[in-house]
Amino acid sequence: MTGRLAGKSALITGAARGIGRAFAEAYVREGATVAIGDINMAAAKRTAKEIGDAAYAVVLDVTDQGSIDKAVKAVERKAGGIDILVNNAALFDMAPVVDITRASYDKLFSANVAGTLFTLQAVARSMIRRGQGGKIINMASQAGRRGEALVGVYCATKAAVISLTQSAGLDLVRHRINVNAIAPGVVDGEHWDHVDSLFARYEGRAPGEKKKLVGDAVPYGRMGTAADLVGMAIFLAGAESDYVVAQTYNVDGGNWMS
Ligand SMILES: NC(=O)c1ccc[n+]([C@@H]2O[C@H](COP(=O)([O-])OP(=O)(O)OC[C@H]3O[C@@H](n4cnc5c(N)ncnc54)[C@H](O)[C@@H]3O)[C@@H](O)[C@H]2O)c1
Repeated sequence: MTGRLAGKSALITGAARGIGRAFAEAYVREGATVAIGDINMAAAKRTAKEIGDAAYAVVLDVTDQGSIDKAVKAVERKAGGIDILVNNAALFDMAPVVDITRASYDKLFSANVAGTLFTLQAVARSMIRRGQGGKIINMASQAGRRGEALVGVYCATKAAVISLTQSAGLDLVRHRINVNAIAPGVVDGEHWDHVDSLFARYEGRAPGEKKKLVGDAVPYGRMGTAADLVGMAIFLAGAESDYVVAQTYNVDGGNWMS
């Protein structure tokens, strides 16, 4: 088998659609088998079928420890182990600071932060038991680089993902497990349709207006697409990134520099 990820086994959380799905397609093209882990099993099955034989659906709710443990076991059974984890599943919400609810805070931190940490932990334990190292990629965001007036909770979750990437990266490198993150900017798709509808409500905008504004503001000149992120996702999953440890890479058309 040829390809930069030939023979590798990957688990991608939240891969039924959007960026996770694009990564799954790319990893399969590069020779990996990919578990499409998602809370939406019907969509995960559909996506796996559309991608082909090298993809399969695994039911996974990253907010539920039992579900994480079962999903990891399912991938171990199916593929003999896990070489690559992409912690991609996440939720978004928006509100002015004075209107943030505890329910929204708990929901986002549970999925975006605890979900990332405890999926990473379960997979790292599996990788350590197997003794062949591995690659873990967390999905951060430009939202984790600085706060935004209406996006306090989501921004805080993504700042936490960047911090966890650093700590886990430094801790796990002795097991030859690389932990790194990708910080996208604004990526068109169903996620941003939802974001746009929330901005329409909170800023009194017409549908689609916020999308156009954020796209025009990107130095590259447009919103990103999931395809724009694929090169970095392949690099961080493959042998060429063995010496890259605990980093967060901006892939955002020039929006942020650090
Ligand atoms: N789209 C953007 O503009 C953008 C920008 C920066 C960062 N990101 C990050 O990239 C990642 C992917 O974004 P996207 O735009 O593809 O999102 P999306 O909303 O399109 O897809 C998220 C997927 O996660 C799944 N999911 C939700 N809760 C889950 C749970 N508890 N357990 C398992 N799966 C669950 C959903 O069913 C869905 O398939 C996220 O971490 C997001 O925060 C996205």
